[in-house]
Amino acid sequence: MYCTRKVTDTIWWVGGNDRRLALFENLFPIPRGVSYNSYVIMDEKTALMDTVDPSITALFLENVAHTLNGRNLDYLVINHMEPDHCSNIEEIMHRYPETTLVCNAKTLQMIGQFFELDLTGRTQIIKEGDTLCLGSHTLHFVAAPMVHWPEVMMAYEDSEKILFSVDGFGSFGALNGNLFNDEVNFDRDWLDDARRYYTNIVGKYGVQVQSVLKKASGLDIQMICPLHGPIWRSNLGYILDKYTKWSTYTPEDKAVAIMYGSMYGNTERAADILASSLSVAGVKDVRVYDISNTDVSELIAEAFRCSHIVIAAPTYNGGLYPVVDTLLHDMKALNLQNRTIALIENGTWAATTNKQMRAIIETMKNMTILDTTLTVKSSVKEAQLEAIQKLADEIAAALV
Ligand code: FEO
Repeated sequence: MYCTRKVTDTIWWVGGNDRRLALFENLFPIPRGVSYNSYVIMDEKTALMDTVDPSITALFLENVAHTLNGRNLDYLVINHMEPDHCSNIEEIMHRYPETTLVCNAKTLQMIGQFFELDLTGRTQIIKEGDTLCLGSHTLHFVAAPMVHWPEVMMAYEDSEKILFSVDGFGSFGALNGNLFNDEVNFDRDWLDDARRYYTNIVGKYGVQVQSVLKKASGLDIQMICPLHGPIWRSNLGYILDKYTKWSTYTPEDKAVAIMYGSMYGNTERAADILASSLSVAGVKDVRVYDISNTDVSELIAEAFRCSHIVIAAPTYNGGLYPVVDTLLHDMKALNLQNRTIALIENGTWAATTNKQMRAIIETMKNMTILDTTLTVKSSVKEAQLEAIQKLADEIAAALV
């Protein structure tokens, strides 16, 4: 049985949800599932905007057939050749033998890499600035390289002023019937997953996202249709503001995230004492994370949200405790910038992680590492409480 929703009088959502997948890209936990959005435009010509993941092929094919209601599919527009959206290209091209596949040259090359598919005479190659007229609807193609693959094209439909934004403005999380941002409490129920999705999937490419936002600012956009998560049809300024902050590596909140690695609880104790000291110093938004027990994708999202980050790490095999090492390298890989960092090291015979953490952080852009660092020798001692309060006061002062 099909399960579609009307987006406008002439455009239909024909996607679906996967609530069984544990790890998106076999990397990121998605306890709330994920949606794969796809859209059909019904006009003099019909167009299908991208396909979906193989996990929902059966539903998707029913949705498309029901929406077309016996009409031919004239165009399959492929804006992004990642398999979570393109696994059904072959199936669609077989089922609808008169369909023309519309994509750019790089996408076509990737299709050839993924599929054994003879598309001779069945493609229309487009590039930035080209248009595809469907009747009353016209798609204008906008290159969006690295958002989040190199071949990505967004499509702007000018009669209904809709931006088909591909992964941009997407989110983890299955849709629960509510398709539009104004049908959900986005700030309460979706923002954390949208931030985690953006920062981990696209976070590295802030410059490219800025470039797309600049292009988008020249368009009259009334609706944003992404390939994951809710459709935006109101309060667009809210999500555009988030994207501006995330893509410029500007913290959303004046807040402190304390992220610690701890083998036996002693570095954890130092983190907790610092958190209490920060509260005493008047800091209201403090969150403490055990790196070993928090998925790195959540830590990355928090690092993008917070202005101040404390990293606490014991020595391990003469180097950094492995989960801390992974986190710092992930922060660097995702281009995190413009943060104030404080460091806590712990070691029984070699407390050297301040130096090791600093060496990684100093390779990142515009990171301020506070001069005051805390060295713990196995466990925090009463005599160090004053020094911890001093570090907390310094962080609190830097927050203002
Ligand atoms: Fe949701 Fe880049 O694919």
